[in-house]
Amino acid sequence: MTTEPNSKFPEPSFNGKHSRSMRLWHWSSFLAMSGSLITVLLAKTLFNTKSNIALVQDTLNEAKISVSADQAKSVSHEFNDLLWHWHIYIGYALSALFLFRIIFEFFQPKEQKVIPILKNTLKALKMPGADKKYIKHYLLVRWLYVILYLSLFTQACTGLFMVYSDDVENLKTIRHNVSDIHSFNMWVIISFIVLHLGGVIMSELGKRNKGVVSEMINGGE
Ligand code: HEM
Ligand code: HEM
Repeated sequence: MTTEPNSKFPEPSFNGKHSRSMRLWHWSSFLAMSGSLITVLLAKTLFNTKSNIALVQDTLNEAKISVSADQAKSVSHEFNDLLWHWHIYIGYALSALFLFRIIFEFFQPKEQKVIPILKNTLKALKMPGADKKYIKHYLLVRWLYVILYLSLFTQACTGLFMVYSDDVENLKTIRHNVSDIHSFNMWVIISFIVLHLGGVIMSELGKRNKGVVSEMINGGE
């Protein structure tokens, strides 16, 4: 087995080219994911069903209309539900974007494909005189992207399952466990976003990898 990195491959580096499909996927997913997280944040805080019951009752009381806690709860619940509907619409978009990500992977130039990049980076690490510290860091980041892709897949599957299982009586018990996975996975995704933004900012502030963000915008031509 040879330890020569593939000659077609550029050296492992955060600076590089990104296909049009990748850029379209990246920025659309960024917008959709931000929207999805905003719906969760609002549904769990400002539009939380329980905490708005008193608000509905007080507001109606001012107009001399008295409603029971249960009646106020159903109004408050409607607003909460509206946000979950938006969460689901955005969820469909995110799932479609993930499908698009899988499809265009087959049409990516080899040096921009997930698995060949990992293989080439491992080879480069074994080369004499390799900058091991930089390449190991690069490899770690590439693995983080793989974890994110797996988390997005899990999120889309569990989300779509919850939409489907809402009307199926037999699936109600499993739905509970699936919902737990979906909620936990959100923290995996949020952790990725924090690390990713930190990494991107450090790259732009440092000397070695300036321009990574413009490359994700203009393709790095
Ligand atoms: C929801 C938020 C985001 C997600 C889920 C996300 C996801 C990703 C993924 C999966 C990749 C790797 C693509 C690949 O080569 O397979 C990537 C690369 C990149 N992202 Fe993001 N991203 C997000 C937000 C952002 C933001 C806000 C910026 C810039 C301000 C940014 C800048 C970049 C850059 C510069 C790269 C290329 C770095 C490299 O090649 O390693 N991302 N992003
Ligand atoms: C960035 C991606 C996503 C995040 C962070 C996220 C997060 C969440 C969270 C925290 C909940 C609340 C769970 C609970 O309290 O029981 C939830 C519920 C839900 N999500 Fe997602 N989700 C994402 C993507 C999706 C996708 C792709 C779908 C698929 C359409 C989806 C469909 C649902 C459904 C159906 C619910 C249940 C709503 C209800 O109980 O009425 N989500 N999501």
